[in-house]
Amino acid sequence: MFAELPEAPIDPILGMAQAFASDPSPNKVDLGIGIYKDERGEVIVLPTVKAAERALHEGQMTKRYLSSAGNPEYNERTRGLLFREGSDAHSRARTIQTVGGTGALRVAADFIRKFGTGRRIFLPDPTWANHPAIFGVTGFEIVNYPYYDIATGTLRLDAMMSALANLKPGDTVLLHGCCHNPAGADPTAAQWAEIGDLVARSGATALVDLAYLGFAEGLEEDRQGLAILAERLPEMIVASSYSKNFALYRERTGALTLIGANASAAERAMGNLLPVVRTNYSMPPDHGAAIVAHILGDATLRAQWEEELAEMRNRIRDMRHELVRLLAGNNRRDYSFLAGQHGMFAMLGISPDAVKRLREDWHVHITGSSRANIAGLTPENVAHVAEAIAAVS
Ligand code: LMR
Repeated sequence: MFAELPEAPIDPILGMAQAFASDPSPNKVDLGIGIYKDERGEVIVLPTVKAAERALHEGQMTKRYLSSAGNPEYNERTRGLLFREGSDAHSRARTIQTVGGTGALRVAADFIRKFGTGRRIFLPDPTWANHPAIFGVTGFEIVNYPYYDIATGTLRLDAMMSALANLKPGDTVLLHGCCHNPAGADPTAAQWAEIGDLVARSGATALVDLAYLGFAEGLEEDRQGLAILAERLPEMIVASSYSKNFALYRERTGALTLIGANASAAERAMGNLLPVVRTNYSMPPDHGAAIVAHILGDATLRAQWEEELAEMRNRIRDMRHELVRLLAGNNRRDYSFLAGQHGMFAMLGISPDAVKRLREDWHVHITGSSRANIAGLTPENVAHVAEAIAAVS
């Protein structure tokens, strides 16, 4: 069998690491995969994570199996981070630990295919490159809905609402909870309400991908879209990740949350989720979840983590504004739209040929879709990146 296989395709995001590693330039800049770098360009382990790891090293006395739902404290604290404790949505939500946000999406896809009545999933255009791959391989029929106008850097709300008007019971619609990847543009609270009302009328299921909580405005502000949707929708699914906001990337620390019409419906749905996990990876690995549970359960560490998160968020915002400032004199393309956006990413809206020239002539690596990871900019490289973008635009 192996001998008959064709050459494997290269992943549009993960595959960039190889191209970057083989670029010999001392001035090369990696703005590819979504990863936060500090102002020295380092991808550090957060001090709170180090503290939690020390505590776990000393205090964890067993590695016995848990259930397919993973770490129960982690699940409870994640539910509380997504939905305000005491809120109706919180009482209707149940969370399980998953293998990263990607694992949450895959478990959600398998769950919907197993129990749902429809096959269609509506994905925003543009969206994260792995979304069509995950939902394609699990047998969904993919329908793209307009989301963002790359030329003007604005949301296509009217076109989106017209497309979502075609949602039917049994369909699934994927929404980015905040810090849209790759667009960097999110709905306002009023727009979330419009979207929520429309999805509620359609009878479709909303699946919210929330991988960047805390990277736009703050934890409270960034979960507002979720709260607005949960108020309107009897059922909803949230795939969330701690890869970015705890910088736990390789620890694969994610969660899947089901919001039911009431607490017992959510309990029952969660019970049905567990065999989906059991027949896939049985149960998630513990380390990342144990770290997050420890930090969120300790008032001092939690406050410190919120400061670390604010520092990451503010540094990304400052770099975004600095890039826009440096590009302001560029008369070939106006990049001021980037200033109003947030999160790790920005779509430059340049041609594939310009992306290639950025990489080959300027050693600035961004994805083929022209997505740049703003969190990879530093005071040292931002001027070079701005000069490069201006030159190829
Ligand atoms: C990204 O979009 O770069 C990140 O979410 C990392 C990944 O897994 O693709």
